[in-house]
Amino acid sequence: MYRQVYRRLRAAILGGALPHGTRLPSTRQLAAELDLSRNTVEVAFEQLRAEGFIERRIGAGSFVAMSRTNRPVAPAGRTRSARASESASLLSARGRLVAEAGTRAGQAASRTFAPCVPGLQDFPVALWNRVLAKRARLGGGALLETGDPAGYRPLREATAAYLGAVRGVQCDWRQVLIVGSTQQALDLVARLVLDPGDEAWIEEPGYLGARAALAAAGARLVPVPVDADGIVVEQGVALAPRARLAYVTPSHQYPLGVTTTLARRVALLAWAERAAAWIVEDDYDSEFRYAGRPLAAVQGLDRSGRVLYTGTFNKVMFPSLHVAYLVVPPGLAERVVAARAVTDGPVATLAQAALADFIGDGHFAAHIRQMRRLYEERRDVLRHELAQRLGTLLTVAHAEAGLHLAALLPRGVDDRPLSTAAAAAGLDVPPLSRYYLGRPSRRGLVLNFAGTARAEIIAGVRTLARVASKMDR
Ligand SMILES: Cc1ncc(COP(=O)(O)O)c(C=O)c1O
Repeated sequence: MYRQVYRRLRAAILGGALPHGTRLPSTRQLAAELDLSRNTVEVAFEQLRAEGFIERRIGAGSFVAMSRTNRPVAPAGRTRSARASESASLLSARGRLVAEAGTRAGQAASRTFAPCVPGLQDFPVALWNRVLAKRARLGGGALLETGDPAGYRPLREATAAYLGAVRGVQCDWRQVLIVGSTQQALDLVARLVLDPGDEAWIEEPGYLGARAALAAAGARLVPVPVDADGIVVEQGVALAPRARLAYVTPSHQYPLGVTTTLARRVALLAWAERAAAWIVEDDYDSEFRYAGRPLAAVQGLDRSGRVLYTGTFNKVMFPSLHVAYLVVPPGLAERVVAARAVTDGPVATLAQAALADFIGDGHFAAHIRQMRRLYEERRDVLRHELAQRLGTLLTVAHAEAGLHLAALLPRGVDDRPLSTAAAAAGLDVPPLSRYYLGRPSRRGLVLNFAGTARAEIIAGVRTLARVASKMDR
């Protein structure tokens, strides 16, 4: 009750309804009026006095002490949007750059074909919970400590061993830094190696998250075309020979799905060495290849320490795990770890430790094998259904790997109206043109099959065919 009295009087003083010098009723009067005990009102008055809102003079009474000049003034008469644009101008130039670069909306995993979402329905939740519970029991108090900003050592070791065996990455565990996401790795790298105005190659079309991280660091983005062999290195060299960085997805180009050939990888490395530039290799879904042998990572071919390699557990496991990695050349590790300590603390130790156990006990490899079979089947269903129902409109070019495929429209057909109409029908199929910084040379739709069950894929393609046929008319 005393809080209520206090709050009402305080609001009246702050709002100006009780101006400076106003004499308040006595505690006895107010208590009688409000049907409260005098003591309750007394406590409220004392609180107001202690905070400087009122003055109490013995024999004279209580007066409002806060005046017009020392009252915080509310910005009167301005609209919410005026205040919002005003607060944008309160940001620094760098702050505005960062805020404007952030384009990633939250992912709605529930929509059919939603991008970047793995098959969460098939994740072995019970098994993971057992591994997690066991680690929590065995780990004891050490799991509650802050931990090493570079990451939990057994996970760094397990990651180094896994990447060496499966991806041909050459590294010592000390070069492996555990981060929360690829996005965090990209942000860290961009801030560490780029100055505002530096040129950075990005794949055209390419991954929006990488584009955002580089733009936020003030980079001048140089879109370099991607053809059937991957990023066209000679075009990059022609456009920006002295770029400081090249962001690439060589094992499975995002979003086209092309695998960069060995010749292109060698050419990219040769340029980076000549230009003393960095290659940021994003190996985001390399675990899932359905045909042919995977090419080893560019990092493994690097002899001059120009590659910063990143990958994520958030696709193979589940997105809210929030564990990914960045592999840096030996000479850089310490400084990257120090920089990471500035921007963020370590990823939750329990998650890292449980993941290290999950890998060490062989569950990780088994899970990948199982999901690869499942995703391959889903990919087959999607490809088959698209050919059956939309074969004259959409062409699937590359679908040998990954969680999604790009289906191309005939030249001259706009992909945006189709994507918008599909969204209205519950399908999340972004237009390929969205991934271009410049003029799109190809148009189509990006369809994620990994997170979409077989029956939903079949129904989804039917819906898409219906939507497309309505647009023809
Ligand atoms: C090319 C590429 N890199 C990285 C990611 C995301 O990884 P993370 O969730 O670890 O940031 C995605 C998709 O979500 C992606 O398509």
